[in-house]
Amino acid sequence: MNIKITDSIKYIGVDDKDLDLFEGQYVVPNGVSYNSYLIKDEKIAVLDTVDSRATDTWLEKLDGELEGKKVDYLVVSHLEPDHSYNIKLLCEKYPDMKLIGNQKTFAFLPQFFNIDEFEKRKVLVNDGDEIVLGQHTLKFAMAPMVHWPEVMVTYEKKEKVLFSADAFGKFGTLDIAEEWESEARRYYFNIVGKYGIQVQALLNKATELEIKMICPLHGPILDKNIEYYVDMYNTWSQYIPEEDGILIVAASMHGNTFEAMKELKRMLIEKSDKEVKLIDLVREDLSEVISQAFKYKTLVLAAPTYNAELFPLMEHFLRELKGKGYKNRKIAFVENGTWAPMANKLMMDIVTQMKDMEVVMPQVTIRTKLNEETRQKLEELAEVL
Ligand code: FEO
Repeated sequence: MNIKITDSIKYIGVDDKDLDLFEGQYVVPNGVSYNSYLIKDEKIAVLDTVDSRATDTWLEKLDGELEGKKVDYLVVSHLEPDHSYNIKLLCEKYPDMKLIGNQKTFAFLPQFFNIDEFEKRKVLVNDGDEIVLGQHTLKFAMAPMVHWPEVMVTYEKKEKVLFSADAFGKFGTLDIAEEWESEARRYYFNIVGKYGIQVQALLNKATELEIKMICPLHGPILDKNIEYYVDMYNTWSQYIPEEDGILIVAASMHGNTFEAMKELKRMLIEKSDKEVKLIDLVREDLSEVISQAFKYKTLVLAAPTYNAELFPLMEHFLRELKGKGYKNRKIAFVENGTWAPMANKLMMDIVTQMKDMEVVMPQVTIRTKLNEETRQKLEELAEVL
């Protein structure tokens, strides 16, 4: 797909429509793009390469844009293989090409490749350093842990373009017409959710810049309404709920727990005008449930006890949420057990390891199916929520 950026800045990234799992774990029904950019000036710079799955198409695009010229610099924003796989190949193609990176880039890079004349190629940059290409000037800002320690972003001063590495990225290829927000949210919370403080540090640096365009390493080039994207990242990275609503996440073995949560949803809708959403944890993609959990202010968890432990899918979900830095939410628990129910206690054990969580009482115990007594308890919980 041909994407126009500016007369001097060219898109040479590639859509991967056939990828099933990103990072071996996240479903990508609309694929993903590996973005790569070329700046043509007196000196020519490539910003990042692409995944091994996209090498041939990327090289074709690169050669087409170069029109016989050579690459002078490769900016290495991020070493994760979906962006770094072709560094060695590009070094071999352009023996005089310099590699622009920071201390951590150059510390990690030999773990990925043996590059000829590595020491001679290295151009070490620190926060605020600039490299002049001609009319274009690249200014570098370190963005450690957004998403790996060596990540840095590049601001091109003439055209006011921010090459933002993984930040502001989104799942889905560039030829898919879909809104940015939901797949960008799923991408953000699952991939960099844990690193809110580091994203805040990057946003603080970005406020000093006039940005006309954001060029991330995945997903569309953002060239309108930049404040909207920055605002969303501000909200997400501070763990602020977007929706003052209630998300019920139910894991059900035979359907009784899910039926009970349908009942709770009905009660909640009756009692307030907040948005209430019910997700079947057994059927829904886990990364989407995580994304939704961050969106809402209140989370209700419902699960059975299994082998005297927490039902495995709920355990996995909660451990993942904790790993992503989930915090600053209201939470309520509903358990189901025909005998010896323990799920509420086990869910609490994980939630108490999260920060700034407000536990809403009562905790409800269902014995196999709802009865008059447990329906009354759910009513009480709905009232409090
Ligand atoms: Fe798209 Fe962290 O790599």
